[in-house]
Amino acid sequence: MTRKILVTSALPYANGAIHLGHLVEYIQTDIWVRFQKMRGHECWYVCADDTHGTAVMLRAEAEGIAPEQLIERVKNEHMRDFAGFLVGFDHYHSTHAPEVHELAHLFYQRLTAAGLIEKRQVRQYYDPVKTLFLPDRFIKGKCPKCGAPDQYGDNCEQCGAAYAPTELKNPYSAVSGAKPELRDSEHYFFRLSDPRCEHFLRAYTSHANGVLQTEAANKLHEWLGEADEHLLTDWDISRDAPYFGFEIPDAPGKFFYVWLDAPIGYMGSFQHLCAREGLSFDEYFAPDSKAELYHFIGKDILYFHALFWPAELTHVGFRTPTKICAHGFLTINGAKMSKSRGTFITAASYLEQGLNPEWLRYYFAGKLSGGMEDIDLNLADFVARVNADLIGKYVNIASRTAGFLARRFDGKLLAADAKLLALSSVKTAAPRIAAHYEAREFSKAMREIMALADAANQYVDNVKPWELAKQADKDAELHLACTNSLNLFYRLTALLKPVLPALAEKAEAFLNIAPLVWTDTTALLPAGHTIRAYHHLMTRVDLKQVEALVAANRANLAPAPKTAKSAGTAAAETSGTIGIDDFLKVDLRIARIVEAAQVEGAEKLVRLVLDIGEEKPRQVFAGIKSAYDPAQLQGRLTVMVANLAPRKMKFGLSEGMVLAASDETGKTGGIYLLSPDAGATPGMRVK
Ligand code: 2FM
Ligand code: ZN
Repeated sequence: MTRKILVTSALPYANGAIHLGHLVEYIQTDIWVRFQKMRGHECWYVCADDTHGTAVMLRAEAEGIAPEQLIERVKNEHMRDFAGFLVGFDHYHSTHAPEVHELAHLFYQRLTAAGLIEKRQVRQYYDPVKTLFLPDRFIKGKCPKCGAPDQYGDNCEQCGAAYAPTELKNPYSAVSGAKPELRDSEHYFFRLSDPRCEHFLRAYTSHANGVLQTEAANKLHEWLGEADEHLLTDWDISRDAPYFGFEIPDAPGKFFYVWLDAPIGYMGSFQHLCAREGLSFDEYFAPDSKAELYHFIGKDILYFHALFWPAELTHVGFRTPTKICAHGFLTINGAKMSKSRGTFITAASYLEQGLNPEWLRYYFAGKLSGGMEDIDLNLADFVARVNADLIGKYVNIASRTAGFLARRFDGKLLAADAKLLALSSVKTAAPRIAAHYEAREFSKAMREIMALADAANQYVDNVKPWELAKQADKDAELHLACTNSLNLFYRLTALLKPVLPALAEKAEAFLNIAPLVWTDTTALLPAGHTIRAYHHLMTRVDLKQVEALVAANRANLAPAPKTAKSAGTAAAETSGTIGIDDFLKVDLRIARIVEAAQVEGAEKLVRLVLDIGEEKPRQVFAGIKSAYDPAQLQGRLTVMVANLAPRKMKFGLSEGMVLAASDETGKTGGIYLLSPDAGATPGMRVK
């Protein structure tokens, strides 16, 4: 039976570069899609850039361009990176597109008609300098639980506590550094707490339904609570201007929150594909659709995909997802990706360094399962695994016998020995391997395939074609040995094709055959078939290449890649440079040194009292004793960091930092305090 399957990967934000962490998901999805296509199913893979929100707006502003320009540029970069890793979308769209706009309106209208949209006053932090309401991630302050400074408005990275931004101590705007004010504004909510939603979601996400993996269904059960607990809360789907997004139809100055239109982007992208390919959108999205809908996502966005999204779909009158496939995060060498270690590796840098994308595809396939566990890319293991498996086992099968066949038999095959154990084992294993692919248990599939490759090599070792070739009367045996081994190679290539599509294409050219489909995993090349000359199929990976990649990403802390030329917090995430927003987080002020004194018992410190135009002067301990006599300092102007979290020192509280230059090579020992030009006065902002 031919299945109709629509598959999506999460839409990447349009304000940062694709990195190896993203690629886990796109490679996982792409392998699954290629497998389905090889099986002969009608399978469509769509995605899009997730373009809306405050972060995109601010980054465009910092770059001095319109958001439309930014998202256009980033989309092209994303598409280039995905193509480089052979991620074969049938269509790649943008959420800032007419289809998404229209659908967002439709969702809103139908949910309103169903009584599931409600207006409510919300008290939120507002940045009076930037004149905008601040998203939680743009408010920072001291954690209300553990006191760690500079924590985000939604949760603390130190102690893991989750809280409301209003609970932060000494909050400041991460955009302008200003102290935010609380302001009221009318917001639109999707009433997830409505009994209709709760009732639907309980049934939809139950274990028995099979939509969710076991771990995910457990998580959902936790979020839903027991029947009498009613834990679901309404979802704020609007944001106030200025905002880059779609304006809410009857509400000027109010915009749909980026997460409202993001999943609608899946549908918009597919709608565009339908128009292009003459497909029926309804066949895939009508409530009674027989088609399957698969969403591949990271475990961090399960809440959006398993609660809001199906609850919206069902009440708008569309079908709901067949399966939500969540995966874990990527670690590199056992740790979180890190810019300073050079393991925050961008997709572009990997390709630019000349590494083969199929090495990574294979390595990830070898690690992926149907569950939500994190996966680790160990760089030394990567080199070993790729070389041992792909070169040492798989490619080797062809390279060991292709030459004999070409030289001695004009490339013409005999009938293979179908009963040969190595060949019949592939036939027996193929359905099992198909089941592994279907269940996204790619690591199990790779293990089985490599065991079959071992058996194939064992066969070649046993028949020793190189010895047969030396004996005049062993032509027939040699010919059969080459035929068998090339048939083994043929079947194994078909098994690996979802993971290694480019290599498979080269192998198809060499074997002189039509594009491989799944039935080839159990078929044989016909007697008399002629193969073409063998060309090297894949090179080995050298540890030095991987080291160069890490070094390049570490060096990336210097010049930014094209995606992140300047600006934006998100740009900094991917490039190593910082954006103007990051810089502006540092509140630099002109300070007058009203008092300067030695600190008893301190080797390096001078105690400064600084006037920065505040009611009360600040006390700062500065490590400048070796260069300055306190008496000289009194009265002069300098520059201080005014929003540094106060630090309790042995000698008292230090409430900031003064800026001074020093030679880090240590060649000259001096320390040089900064001074502004004449005319600057205490409290002036430096930027
Ligand atoms: O978490 C993210 O990167 C989001 N941009 C994913 C959106 S997925 C979907 F809902 F559009
Ligand atoms: Zn904390």
